[in-house]
Amino acid sequence: MAKTVVITGAGRGIGRATATALARDGHRVVLVTRDREQGERAVAEIGGLAGLVVGDLGTARGVRATAAALREHAPDLDVLVQNAGVWPSKKALNEDGFEQAYFTNHLAPFLLNHLLEDLLKANGGRVVQVTAGLYLKGKVDPERTPKGLDFSTIRTYADTKLANLLTVPLWADRWQDAGVSITAVHPGVVNTNLGARSGPLGLLLRLVKRSWGTPEAGARPVVRLALEDAPRSGTYYNEEKPEELLAPATDTALARRLWRDAAAEFDVA
Ligand SMILES: NC(=O)c1ccc[n+]([C@@H]2O[C@H](COP(=O)([O-])OP(=O)(O)OC[C@H]3O[C@@H](n4cnc5c(N)ncnc54)[C@H](OP(=O)(O)O)[C@@H]3O)[C@@H](O)[C@H]2O)c1
Repeated sequence: MAKTVVITGAGRGIGRATATALARDGHRVVLVTRDREQGERAVAEIGGLAGLVVGDLGTARGVRATAAALREHAPDLDVLVQNAGVWPSKKALNEDGFEQAYFTNHLAPFLLNHLLEDLLKANGGRVVQVTAGLYLKGKVDPERTPKGLDFSTIRTYADTKLANLLTVPLWADRWQDAGVSITAVHPGVVNTNLGARSGPLGLLLRLVKRSWGTPEAGARPVVRLALEDAPRSGTYYNEEKPEELLAPATDTALARRLWRDAAAEFDVA
């Protein structure tokens, strides 16, 4: 049966490849892109899409506006693919005072899940959270990481993906009796613009990435989890394979602390 699927970060990379595959299979796909021109180009090139929402998931204001637009464009939401992500090349704080990757990779999906929770519950929906195997290298200090006080161009990406992944089992618990599921998926090592740099380092990175997987390959496990009959809620998938979460993603006290902090920030439960 055709599903209504919302995909964030869908203008390029894995998000766009996911949208293309799902639209080709006849699902009603709504793209979320930050840039209108990029979104309109994707809509024209992919074809058969159900809609476009332009929204910046880098601020609380942007997430709230995006959620409001999605309520109009996808009231029958079945699947929310939380794919947007950033690997920051420099420290920058957003208008809410958070380090940009901490907000985009962790706080934005947290807030969007909350704002669309009623729609997901109404339809027995699901969330597919695109995560990263690099969570294993992450370290979250709740006193420092949110504000970028421990910022590193190498490690912050892993820290923020870990923060997000820590909350996935808590979402699964919360939604256990509501018929909503959530899975997290590492899409593989994929040649996209993630973490793109300028200068000689950027050139080297582009050369190295040539041997990495295609966005279409990265989209495959995401598509499968979007459509699979009964995904095991709370499960982490390393591409196609379900795997136990390993430390540091097993720190339940830290997970609860991050949840409490995010909930207090956005005044949600
Ligand atoms: N590539 C890999 O090897 C790999 C490995 C593990 C996990 N992942 C994860 O896969 C997901 C997709 O990444 P990708 O590899 O496809 O990289 P990408 O090509 O850089 O795509 C990232 C997407 O996120 C969007 N985005 C970033 N900041 C945003 C914001 N503030 N508001 C709205 N959208 C925003 C980008 O939009 P713009 O075009 O406007 O910037 C872009 O569409 C990410 O969550 C990433 O962490 C990737």
